[in-house]
Amino acid sequence: MITVTDPVRLESLKASLSQGNYWAKKAPAITAFLANADWSMKMDSGRDLAWFELGMAAMNYQLQAVKEGLHVHPIVGFNAAAAKLALGVPEAVTLEVLVVLAYPGPAAGLNERHLAAETAPRSRRPLEAVYAANAWDDRLLPAPKA
Ligand SMILES: Cc1cc2nc3c(=O)[nH]c(=O)nc-3n(C[C@H](O)[C@H](O)[C@H](O)COP(=O)(O)O)c2cc1C
Repeated sequence: MITVTDPVRLESLKASLSQGNYWAKKAPAITAFLANADWSMKMDSGRDLAWFELGMAAMNYQLQAVKEGLHVHPIVGFNAAAAKLALGVPEAVTLEVLVVLAYPGPAAGLNERHLAAETAPRSRRPLEAVYAANAWDDRLLPAPKA
């Protein structure tokens, strides 16, 4: 991972954000989570552990940040090639996710949708959609794409 706080580097990373992520432009820190499937353990049946490791690292990082009073938002809405260039990341490395970090501040500047989302009750997929007891259940299949 690379945590970016240097103002110049941060500006250049922020230039890679997609329009909808305008809110992240105020953040004082953004962390890039990186991996290369060939550098981590590979098992049979296409099990590339790199993505599991990256997910665990990103989740633990976010839990610790929240514990320290920060707000965190993982985002995939950015131009990965431009973001890699901004951080000097080699071609072979995948920049999977950025985690935007900030202390909570005023909601001014958020569009209507984001303003509503800030205070809306969180909705999560029901447990039955992601969990089966003892054996495979077709309920675990993703819903057909609309
Ligand atoms: C993998 C992933 C990618 C995401 N990408 C974006 C994004 O590009 N832009 C965005 O506004 N939110 C994105 N989100 C959602 C926000 O980060 C969301 O605020 C975060 O998941 C916290 O949700 P909660 O406030 O409901 O707990 C993404 C979430 C995940 C898990």
